[in-house]
Amino acid sequence: MRVVVVGGAGYIGAHVTRLLLDRGDDVVVVDNLSTGDAARVEGAELHLLTVTSGDDAALAEVLGGSDAVVHFAARKSVEESVHDPVAYYRDNVVGVTTVLAAMRDAGVGGLVFSSSAAVYGEASGVVSESADLRPINPYGRSKVVGEWAVSDAAAAYRIRALSLRYFNVAGAADPSLRDHGARNLVPIAVEHARQGRPVSVFGDGYDTPDGSCVRDYVHVSDVADAHLAALDHVVAAPAGYDDVLNVGTGVGSSVLEVLTTLGEVSGQAVDYEIGPPRDGDPAAVIGAVGKIEAVLGWRASRDLRAIVGSAWTAGVTA
Ligand code: WQD
Repeated sequence: MRVVVVGGAGYIGAHVTRLLLDRGDDVVVVDNLSTGDAARVEGAELHLLTVTSGDDAALAEVLGGSDAVVHFAARKSVEESVHDPVAYYRDNVVGVTTVLAAMRDAGVGGLVFSSSAAVYGEASGVVSESADLRPINPYGRSKVVGEWAVSDAAAAYRIRALSLRYFNVAGAADPSLRDHGARNLVPIAVEHARQGRPVSVFGDGYDTPDGSCVRDYVHVSDVADAHLAALDHVVAAPAGYDDVLNVGTGVGSSVLEVLTTLGEVSGQAVDYEIGPPRDGDPAAVIGAVGKIEAVLGWRASRDLRAIVGSAWTAGVTA
């Protein structure tokens, strides 16, 4: 099929682009390269467009004749969103509405939208898709609004859509696709370990087995596999189809387990220091994965060692 990947030169988008090209799909990448990298998407047709530029007709032209769109292009830093919320509402909300309008105008039927576990806010434990949406920062709120826009457009324009709520995505299929510049635990830990600097652990007094926070780390290659299954699902779904799915492993790992695993895969113990807890950090957030298994027949196949090992290799050879 012909798939347009908006934000396809970014971290997760480039992994999906690679898999789509590998399976022989016709892949069109739309990206303004603000954080993306053209070298990641060699082999795909690349259009340098900013979806929030106001030139909506240009996007509709690129979308013409496609079967589906995967929309990644967005900002993803919780901290940045607190300091510059308008940038998040513009890029994340105006971005998806522009894509939806272009899909309507070009008659494109299928959409997979990147959402986030940040929509659940401080929910703790194993979180299912039916949990209340209580985002606690502008990033999470921009994703909730994005999901609403997708649902409303699916109903009105007869689009078939899935919103995927990612948990903690990390790792890399190969070093060229690594997540450079991300301020998340795994890339920070790899960077600090390489430089011999201690990693700051944000609190060890949580109600978890070792006192540090527990998250659901999912390998970016598994996340990319889930997108291919989601694309196949939406193009075959009835008009107006719309649903949300968690993309996680259903397994929680603590900050200290991540650092121990990094020590094992790198062959050098990772130095760390216990710092104060970070505002708004829930003790444990793990995705319930029964729904995505039932709907897409997808489940993650790579464990924490594979995630951290691939991030380490990508960081060392970068
Ligand atoms: C992971 C764990 C920290 C850094 C957020 C968004 C989520 C997704 C990913 C995506 C936490 C601890 C971290 C450090 C630490 N966003 N930590 N020392 O906060 O779980 O999730 O990013 O697009 O939607 O909410 O991710 O990687 O910041 O933290 O101890 O230097 O690592 O406390 O427990 P988080 P994170």
